[in-house]
Amino acid sequence: MHGKFVFLLHPLDMGHVYREKPWAKWLPKSIVQFYMVKKKPFIASHITGIKSKTGDTAEGWFIIIPMTPDLMLKYEDVATQRIIEAGHIGEELGATIMGLGAFTAIVGGAGLKAAEALDGIGVTTGNSYTAYTAHEALLMGAREIGLNPEDPALTLAVVGGTGSIGRIVAKLLAPKVNGKIVIVGRNKEKAEKVASELRPITNAEVLSSDDVRGIMRQADMAVTVSSAVDAIIGPDDVKSGAVIVDVSRPRDVAEAVKNRDDVLVIDGGVVKIPGDVKFNFDFGFPPGTAFACMAETMMLALEGWSGDFSLTKELKEEQVLQTGRWAKKHGFELIWMRSFDLPVSEEKIKHMREIISRRVNSYG
Ligand SMILES: NC(=O)c1ccc[n+]([C@@H]2O[C@H](COP(=O)([O-])OP(=O)(O)OC[C@H]3O[C@@H](n4cnc5c(N)ncnc54)[C@H](OP(=O)(O)O)[C@@H]3O)[C@@H](O)[C@H]2O)c1
Repeated sequence: MHGKFVFLLHPLDMGHVYREKPWAKWLPKSIVQFYMVKKKPFIASHITGIKSKTGDTAEGWFIIIPMTPDLMLKYEDVATQRIIEAGHIGEELGATIMGLGAFTAIVGGAGLKAAEALDGIGVTTGNSYTAYTAHEALLMGAREIGLNPEDPALTLAVVGGTGSIGRIVAKLLAPKVNGKIVIVGRNKEKAEKVASELRPITNAEVLSSDDVRGIMRQADMAVTVSSAVDAIIGPDDVKSGAVIVDVSRPRDVAEAVKNRDDVLVIDGGVVKIPGDVKFNFDFGFPPGTAFACMAETMMLALEGWSGDFSLTKELKEEQVLQTGRWAKKHGFELIWMRSFDLPVSEEKIKHMREIISRRVNSYG
């Protein structure tokens, strides 16, 4: 089997645009943004060398939608149209599946509008495997620093817990937590609805909140996966000894939090790709690795999947677990923890372990 896919990328902020096109800095921002909204999607690179443990292979193409998150939210209809145009490029290339990266997975009904408009190519947000790896990363981080998620004294926060990824991450983690779980969103009613879905599947006390900073100050473990366009968690908003998996792009956790040596922030969804993959495009990751949403698109291509996959805001748990099984079958795996784009050092882990063990000892 040889699968083909396309994956959509876009600049995360104007800084990205200026790094790619330095001359644009000399123009008024409004003019640059006017052209970004007018510009059609284009192929940025050919991705080769993906080889599954089964022997199946895949190739793909990155396609750029030249709009930043705030432009996509402001001109959502244009962004949706660009996603559909990118789908047509994918069809011409013979791809059977199109993965939606970052905000292309949020606008247009989280891929639904594009899926309705495209017959010749399936669409996925990649959110199922992203959710799967986010839950794996939290358990890995907790284990490495000596936190037991089952400890009844611990609080887990899921920021953006009402969203497509956050809701299902909370569902995967809830049976493993016995202390407190807080679902955090902007809309308290939506957060309470997710909280009520969790109560039957966990021994933990489950609460809902719209106070991101207040809850993060109490959280020992957190997954942050909001669609906020700017960081919403600063260095004074995190608890000493906490492990936080930040899945959001743009990040939810401000860069300044890396100065807190008593907190472990893990970059969510970084996956090793099977084979000798060449992206021919620098998105800032170590060689051979990619975002989990890209990995989901690749595994669907390796499976010869031609329909839509992770599309609705209410992902099914079985679908998410299926991506975990496919990952194992084809050889995709979570890489060693990274924090703000750098590997987490043994010293950091040791320091975190000391903080946790001091705390456990002081509780008696
Ligand atoms: N690392 C990866 O591989 C990867 C893959 C896919 C997606 N992502 C990223 O994951 C994030 C979430 O994606 P999604 O598809 O789950 O989004 P989504 O379905 O739109 O959900 C977004 C969630 O964020 C909450 N939210 C938005 N703005 C907020 C704010 N200012 N403060 C607090 N909560 C806020 C929303 O709350 P309300 O419901 O109350 O509005 C909702 O719970 C995005 O940043 C996306 O780029 C990363």
